[in-house]
Amino acid sequence: MIYPRIIAHRCGGALAPENTLAGLHLAARLGCRGVEFDVMLAADGVPVLIHDEMLERTTSGRGRVAEMSSAQLGLLDAGSRHHPAFAVEPVPTLAEALRRCAALGLWANVEIKPSAGQDAETGRAVARLAAAASGKLLLSSFSPIALRAAADEAAQLPRAMLVGAIEADWRERIAETQACALHCAARALTTADMEAVRAAGLPLACYTVNRRDDAERLFAMGVCAVFTDRPDLWSAAEM
Ligand code: G3P
Ligand code: MG
Repeated sequence: MIYPRIIAHRCGGALAPENTLAGLHLAARLGCRGVEFDVMLAADGVPVLIHDEMLERTTSGRGRVAEMSSAQLGLLDAGSRHHPAFAVEPVPTLAEALRRCAALGLWANVEIKPSAGQDAETGRAVARLAAAASGKLLLSSFSPIALRAAADEAAQLPRAMLVGAIEADWRERIAETQACALHCAARALTTADMEAVRAAGLPLACYTVNRRDDAERLFAMGVCAVFTDRPDLWSAAEM
């Protein structure tokens, strides 16, 4: 699988409100080739872009994402917490985000981020929509249940297992989830981990890397891509 080297974290990184269409457009304008975003189910089962189970940190809403319909979420302001200039940004649906990625030529890492107890449903719903999308994409999740459900729904889609540190049982977990890549926290990566993952022939990508020197060190170790809140630190040609 070919990864873009620099992947804008939560759409546009720190330069736009997270998990919004404005972030996707900003990433494209910066010359990014790839973006990552988080996807959860609304109360009506529609996958939407949001990181937290609760609405307060990033939107004008209150309460649980899982208790609001996608239509209600689409009426919230998911931009002002970042900056008032983004006040009209809604919580987008995954379907709309995938259409925009395809139109903008952005590779998308769709992170399946289930709310509590919704792992399998979220994995299935995300995989179903992703399988119908026309752009290039990769699914990932910290949830093994969500990854397996995604594999059952659309086995043809590439999937990455997300972890913090790489634990001793990572090979078994990769086998269980049928993932073809591993994404880990940059701060927890050791040279021994890197060698083991490379020996297994798996691509390894690291989050969240907000300094160029840290990214260069990781690339020199053999990491294939980094997720960053600061895609503006690289030129289009370097991404
Ligand atoms: O997919 C990489 C990264 O986004 C995982 O952490 O919490 O930012 O979704 P988080
Ligand atoms: Mg994420």
